[in-house]
Amino acid sequence: MSDEYLLDTPVVHEFVHDVRAAIAAAPSAAAACDAIRPRFGALLADPDWLPERFQQPNPDSGMGGGIGQWLLFRGADRELTLFALVVPAGAATPIHDHLAWGLVGLYRGSQDEEIYDDRVDLKEQRALAPGDFYALLPPRDDIHRVRTTSPEQSVSIHLLTNDTGCVWRHSYDEHTHQAEPFRSGYVNVPCD
Ligand SMILES: [Fe+2]
Repeated sequence: MSDEYLLDTPVVHEFVHDVRAAIAAAPSAAAACDAIRPRFGALLADPDWLPERFQQPNPDSGMGGGIGQWLLFRGADRELTLFALVVPAGAATPIHDHLAWGLVGLYRGSQDEEIYDDRVDLKEQRALAPGDFYALLPPRDDIHRVRTTSPEQSVSIHLLTNDTGCVWRHSYDEHTHQAEPFRSGYVNVPCD
């Protein structure tokens, strides 16, 4: 397998190059996230790099609610992915985990994020505006749900160190607190 650039532009190539260099030079995942922060913030602040076709909901969503997960880049050994998550107005993701570290930030629209502890009890709630982003360093704060609060869809950008759309992870029932196997898929690329 080789690197896959679903969005094959100089901006994405340069971003991935810089991210890989930062990861290679960093002594830990947390240090890598810190090193990538300025680059990730610049991507969120750039209004021009993400075509409209990657900012559309998906009526056939495997996640429900018309949510679209658009793959933009995937590394040959599936150790790194960049994707856009589109959540329509009023829709929410299931409560889910990611099982990989990386950075997640809001590009367009607004969201409420609910973070759950490992017993799937609500721990924290926060509002996200465009440009807001955070490092995801599991197991800390790996279980969450996001809901779009803007009148238009929200678009968040995820840089994660696994093939998030295709790995089996977990969704959680908010009432029973039970985990279920969960694979979100991508709109534009099948999983093997
Ligand atoms: Fe998530």
